[in-house]
Amino acid sequence: MKSITRKPIDAPAWTLGRGLPQAGRYASSRLSEDELHDGSLILVNKAHPVATCTLRLEDVTNGMLQAAGREEPRIRLDAECLAQLSALLDACEGGDRIAVVSGYRSKQTQRDIYADKLRERGRAYTESYVALPGASEHQTGLAVDVGLAGRGLDYIAPSFPEDEGPSAAFRRLAPEYGFVQRYQESKTEITGIACEPWHYRYVGRPHAAIMTRENLCLEEYTSYLKQYAFGKAHLLFTDGVRTYEIYYVAALPGGTDVPVPGAGESAGWELSGNNRDGYVVAAVYDKEPIRHVR
Ligand code: DAL
Ligand code: ZN
Repeated sequence: MKSITRKPIDAPAWTLGRGLPQAGRYASSRLSEDELHDGSLILVNKAHPVATCTLRLEDVTNGMLQAAGREEPRIRLDAECLAQLSALLDACEGGDRIAVVSGYRSKQTQRDIYADKLRERGRAYTESYVALPGASEHQTGLAVDVGLAGRGLDYIAPSFPEDEGPSAAFRRLAPEYGFVQRYQESKTEITGIACEPWHYRYVGRPHAAIMTRENLCLEEYTSYLKQYAFGKAHLLFTDGVRTYEIYYVAALPGGTDVPVPGAGESAGWELSGNNRDGYVVAAVYDKEPIRHVR
């Protein structure tokens, strides 16, 4: 889904609804069991470690400020995440003061960081701010840590004030570019990680907008989407310009035929595994695709 006209996150035109799919509009895409663990919507945490996630990494360049350190001398991100981050920074007034502090980490790098922090800061700090090796979103290339340049840019906890200039603009605009603040104060019991105002996760649009609007963390959102199973009422999200149809398809052993909009039926669609138990389809339309139901 490319070059979508954007509306402000708080635009009154943003609506959520439900619509009934019409038979005959869908084709089928065969997905392997491995693909359950791939895509922008994969849930990664202690209970759902990174599995066979395909990496599409690119170096952070493009004039972006970097705070590359000893732990991560070469900062890389998933290609789509990087492109959207670049657009987000351009959209933020003062975005050139925001530095990329951390992107992709291998499992070994995460292991080293975990061991270093255990030694330097102790168990309570490490368990709060560093994911277990194998269970870090940074291993997917879809997570980025950002900090406000000129501040103390600690590698694990860079300063990124929630209510100040460029970082406040970044926070406000992030969902429009597919990013969510992954670890929020109000969700620490669910995520198992302390509040991290600097850690943003790319989930794609419209998921970031819906998660923000409905105040759902990724653990909650992957569960929430299961009520919109294919064939029942699908989730409809409208931003005043386009409408998105979103639905869930349970994974089957040996592979799954996932229904997707047939040729010419939609302006584009994206499919992601959830790294749990199923796939999520998000199709975008220039006009209302299916009949709304209450
Ligand atoms: N700081 C986050 C939790 C990580 O280590 O992935
Ligand atoms: Zn992070």
